[in-house]
Amino acid sequence: MKRVLTGIKPTGYAHIGNYFGAIKPAIELSKREDYECFYFIADYHALTTLNSKAEMKEYFYNIACTWLACGLDPKKVVFYRQSDIKEDFELNWILCNVTPKGLMNRAHAYKALVEKNEANGLDRDDKVNMGLYNYPILMSADIMLFDADYVPVGLDQKQHIEIARDIAHNFNIKYGETLKEPMEYIDKNNNTLVGLDGRKMSKSYNNTIRLFGDENELKKAIFRVVTDSRLPGEPKDADCTVNKLYKLFVSESKAKEFEEDLLKGLGWGDAKKQLFEVANRYISPMREKFNYYMAHKKEVDAILDEGAEKARVVARKVLKRVRKAIGAE
Ligand code: TRP
Repeated sequence: MKRVLTGIKPTGYAHIGNYFGAIKPAIELSKREDYECFYFIADYHALTTLNSKAEMKEYFYNIACTWLACGLDPKKVVFYRQSDIKEDFELNWILCNVTPKGLMNRAHAYKALVEKNEANGLDRDDKVNMGLYNYPILMSADIMLFDADYVPVGLDQKQHIEIARDIAHNFNIKYGETLKEPMEYIDKNNNTLVGLDGRKMSKSYNNTIRLFGDENELKKAIFRVVTDSRLPGEPKDADCTVNKLYKLFVSESKAKEFEEDLLKGLGWGDAKKQLFEVANRYISPMREKFNYYMAHKKEVDAILDEGAEKARVVARKVLKRVRKAIGAE
């Protein structure tokens, strides 16, 4: 039995890039008999960027209800809130002491911010808080605390898993074999999805389609997809954004039909209308479940509490092993 672990940080509303890139593949993995899955909401990682209590609550429940609406089965998956596992923050501190500062200087999120500051003539550490700087260490603790074998992530998180491996390795060299060195699990169809403007769908580009907005919001977003100025009747390119998005929601044969219509000159307005229809049909049943959970947050809390209970059983065991290794027990 292999252990799979992943987290999503609640820093915004779940969008269809999150769904097709991370949530859907993770839920498919959780149906395999040979994998034991630990999925959590990384609320303390979100602290590095959130501005208020209201944002935390809003995004936390958005992400929690999204997982449940998309089919996560809490009987099969250990599903929990990161901040409920206090052992995580103890391990985080221990790991700080086997993490060279230089390793954090090279972590991409920190490095990118420093480079941006330098380019703008600001102090290099402007807007850098220690949560951001130490982010990869807490992420390592999240993973090692559960002896995870595989960590499903997007390519943008690959470096973090490499860092986690380095940290585990440093610990093991100093104190003897104690921590499992995890591997990233990157979907081969890779999971970067096209956004409204044709670039990668990402919150930071403001080109996302929210997964569970209402129907009207979905329609509006789809009508914002950037197209060229070709008129109805003129053939369109198969690699246009409308076509790429359409494929996500339908069978291969249906996708082919749509592509042929585009090549034959289907107008952008009609094409977007059809895209909206298939997207809405796909999302609607999940949206209903999402709305149910959003209206029953106590149920969600109870599910997460139960998950935390199960998670803590493992976390305590691993932390005990670590405390023994360092001589704290
Ligand atoms: N850093 C991840 C992200 O931004 C979220 C995350 C936190 C995570 N801890 C994790 C992912 C542990 C995998 C394993 O998406």
